[in-house]
Amino acid sequence: MEIKASKGTRDILPPEVEDWQLVEETSRRIFALYGFREIRTPIFESTDLFVKSTGSDTDIVTKEMYTFTDRAGRSVTLRPEGTPGVVRAALEAGLLRRLEAERFYYIGPMFRYERPQKGRYRQFSQIGVELLGSAHPAADAEVMEMALALFSSLGIGDARLQINSVGHAECRATYRVALREALVPHRDRLCPDCQRRLDVNPLRILDCKVPGCAALKEKAPSILDHLCDDCRTHMSRVQEALRALDVPFTINPRLVRGLDYYTRTTFEVASGGLGAQNALCGGGRYDDLVASMGGPPTPAFGFAIGADRLVMLLGAVVEGQRARPACPSPADVYIVHLGQAGFDEAFRAARALRSRGVATLFDPESRDLKKQMSRASACGARYTIIIGDSEIERRAYALKRMSDGIQKDVAAGQWDEITREVTHGGQQRVGA
Ligand code: HAM
Repeated sequence: MEIKASKGTRDILPPEVEDWQLVEETSRRIFALYGFREIRTPIFESTDLFVKSTGSDTDIVTKEMYTFTDRAGRSVTLRPEGTPGVVRAALEAGLLRRLEAERFYYIGPMFRYERPQKGRYRQFSQIGVELLGSAHPAADAEVMEMALALFSSLGIGDARLQINSVGHAECRATYRVALREALVPHRDRLCPDCQRRLDVNPLRILDCKVPGCAALKEKAPSILDHLCDDCRTHMSRVQEALRALDVPFTINPRLVRGLDYYTRTTFEVASGGLGAQNALCGGGRYDDLVASMGGPPTPAFGFAIGADRLVMLLGAVVEGQRARPACPSPADVYIVHLGQAGFDEAFRAARALRSRGVATLFDPESRDLKKQMSRASACGARYTIIIGDSEIERRAYALKRMSDGIQKDVAAGQWDEITREVTHGGQQRVGA
């Protein structure tokens, strides 16, 4: 029986994995500039955490969670998103009683039982941030601008920001009444889930993916017409702050997002390069979540980027621009060896160079000289060291610079000197 990767999961192999590393390293660098520090929370959590925070009527909780009972009979769930775990961890560690806002980021796998297609997987990776402890509209703008700064530093030009406000709990209560009134005449055209949602949580109809329900969105009134004065002021101050930062955006009054915890600002960043699954990043403000989980009142703002989608876009951006070496692992030095003694010496030489920070490869299969030399150039090695019988006898290796073929002898065992030769300074001196 052939065992394959489970549906909706995939392996990330070299060289694609190098694009992932670039995305992750760039994210860490940009987030650090804005004062965010990494947090790592468990991959599985108690099921209740997601039911209570992500929301019991959401698609995520009702249809998409990987939930199972562990051996002690507890219900646990593979995290479908990162926000609830981060809030739980911050509460558990007592971090939310400080005066300063806490700024966290995370990078890691999430799990949703969705219908897989390009850009949509059952195991996918998110790059998320959570700013806990600021209600200021400038915090919304700062965090959204950070997402865009990340995209632009990765060369993604067409990231488009859409914002909206879903108000606070009372604004939503009045909006729900208006939305229900507008949709009740169309009840028969809604999917069975949305017919039920019409009574319990009509807002969720706005993010239903069933085509009939999606078409009815046009009939929905605008939530922006149902905001209280404070929420309306917040929304305009967010816009002012975005303008002050020169961040272009559009307002989309239908953007309510498919998770229950949002208050006031919601946003998404889309990219035309992604096709049907065009949401690259989504997030917003969630001022009530921490308190609803038993913590002190803590206004918060965050987002998560779909890393799989970001890497897909990056692939399109760098296509043809980045020459990838043909060898699976590029090396500074390739050791070409001949004979048993040469092999033994190559083995020791590789260890000595690696311990000095020089990426070193050699061919353990001991293929012939020509094959080893062509492997050395295929993997982009800048130098080769040749160790055969005569080199061992002379106690000197032949060091060859690949860019111009210039070769010189270096004393055997002089690892520090060889390291100097093959890193920066040595380049000029070879053959001098
Ligand atoms: P979300 O909109 O559910 O928000 O997910 C954020 C991003 O994750 C999406 O825009 C998309 O790029 C990516 N994504 C979601 N599902 C999949 C999938 N099945 N395959 C590939 N990529 C996917 C959240 O998860 C919130 N926790 C964001 C947040 C943080 N809000 C406040 N703080």
